[in-house]
Amino acid sequence: MRVLWCAVFLVVCAMGCVEKDVEIIAHRGASYLAPENTVASAALAWELGADAVEVDVYLSKDNRIVVIHDKTTKRTAGVDLDVAQTASADLRQLDVGRFKDAKYAGEKIPFLEEILDGVPPGKTLYVEVKCDDRILPYLQAVIDASGKRRQVVVISFNFDVVKGSKQIMPDVPAYWLAGTRRDKETEEYLPHDPAWIGQVKEHHIDGLDVHYAGVTEEFAREVLAAGLGLYVWTVNDPAEALRLQRLGVHGITTDRPAWLKTQMQSNGG
Ligand code: G3P
Ligand code: CA
Repeated sequence: MRVLWCAVFLVVCAMGCVEKDVEIIAHRGASYLAPENTVASAALAWELGADAVEVDVYLSKDNRIVVIHDKTTKRTAGVDLDVAQTASADLRQLDVGRFKDAKYAGEKIPFLEEILDGVPPGKTLYVEVKCDDRILPYLQAVIDASGKRRQVVVISFNFDVVKGSKQIMPDVPAYWLAGTRRDKETEEYLPHDPAWIGQVKEHHIDGLDVHYAGVTEEFAREVLAAGLGLYVWTVNDPAEALRLQRLGVHGITTDRPAWLKTQMQSNGG
């Protein structure tokens, strides 16, 4: 009987490990297939089984939170407007679907509310703030009105944004984004700086969300040993995703959530 209970215990532990597996975060929604940062790309990511969706946000001239990656609308709408200097009603006239595929014609720049509306129970929305910390009171209001505060994570390259977000919403996880530096002569990627760990801990920030290439075994070990979250972007290569999973990262941001998950699983991930 004791042997049987041991066997059951081991199976339950193994299932627990699988459940605690790396979170797959759809970068700008399912942006390999659908136009980035649109309701369509977020909806497709959920349909494809992503654990989470990441979107980029700015504050428009009339203080609405709009979902778009670039400072201007040129690349995705073909019309050059500065997002922060334009009223949301004017931004909403633009078509940000057609540049990807004619079948997406008519997709508008979403309000953050629309993306939050579509987040299914148990799933997470990573909101990347692309502007400065003046957005924070508006962001808090939108998150609170959504009733989905426990499903939101705030990320930003701007340290004041993640620091300020933790100050006004201590219960909402916030991660500091960082890119990978390159050697000036060889152009090779350099390992991330472990000094970031102290900086985020000092300001009660929950962890780091870093470009994948600078994540060495040593860096991952130190971040995890400090009890911080460790997330990476943007990984579309299954071998690289498996390397990062083995290093213990908590989440992988990818343009291809379903494809990457399948590739990882069929290669032992
Ligand atoms: O998730 C972080 C990642 O999205 C940062 O890069 O340029 O795609 O916003 P970017
Ligand atoms: Ca982003």
